[in-house]
Amino acid sequence: MITVFGSINIDLVCRTSHLPRPGETVPGSDYQLIPGGKGANQALAARRAGASVRMVGAVGADDMAAIALGELEKDGVDLGALVRRGPTTGMAIITVDDEAENTIVLSPGANARLTAADLASNPPGAGDTLLLQMEVPFAESLAAARAARAAGARVLLSIAPFLPIERAALAEVDIILVNETEAADLARHLGLEAGAGGPETVATLSKALGKTVIATLGSEGAVASADGAEILVPALPVVPVDTTGAGDTFAGVLAALLDQGESLETALQFAAVAGSLSCTQAGAQPSFPRRSAIEAALNGPSSNA
Ligand code: RIB
Ligand code: NA
Repeated sequence: MITVFGSINIDLVCRTSHLPRPGETVPGSDYQLIPGGKGANQALAARRAGASVRMVGAVGADDMAAIALGELEKDGVDLGALVRRGPTTGMAIITVDDEAENTIVLSPGANARLTAADLASNPPGAGDTLLLQMEVPFAESLAAARAARAAGARVLLSIAPFLPIERAALAEVDIILVNETEAADLARHLGLEAGAGGPETVATLSKALGKTVIATLGSEGAVASADGAEILVPALPVVPVDTTGAGDTFAGVLAALLDQGESLETALQFAAVAGSLSCTQAGAQPSFPRRSAIEAALNGPSSNA
């Protein structure tokens, strides 16, 4: 069983030919309101990969809340521990250009009001997985991590968006998830040889922290470093349409497979392929693959491909 303690957002998405420069106005497409937020995204990706998932998060009193929860509800993510706090639901104002690059302005809304106490009545237990990101107050995530580990749960932290976390805090998690930029930022922040954020940086981080460190490498796939050994897995070759949420897909699917007792290598393979698949469709949550699609892609290109 996976508990996600994290953010729930509405993504207000508009496509443009190029991202606006400061002071520039660019014409955009019709806007879309799409459920998002790194916490909710990872919860949904894990659920679609076959895990049972509980989302502990906060939404506001606005009309956006119902839209933000739509996909989670449809796919059967447990929302029993959800709380309503303050006037607004978190909103990510996202611009995506023709090259599938994006910029995001994040209004935290209710996410800023989530507390570890919201998890206290029903914390993850032995053998469970707690999945964390950086869009709710980190002190609360840390308190949740401590409680979960004390109860024997595994804790995964996706350091997205990057914030400079102290080394002592990282001792409270079992598995650290980053992308290349986050890997380099984290290494630099910890005073380590940062490198480019690829396999070497990941190995350096893992050794220095004594933790499993996993980085997504975009079209190059993903790398894990644990106990002095590295595992590299490829991405699926795809033409990206929208990469929003690809990292969340990776994190959710990885957590799902590990929670189901699969090996780190198998979990990485599933997660990398799922991340690639999510880039082939617009938006975050609508593009997250189901387990059957991940398995089909892992089993190789069909005869007519
Ligand atoms: O990681 C993608 C997510 O980041 C989006 O869904 C958006 O809500 C932002 O928080
Ligand atoms: Na997508």
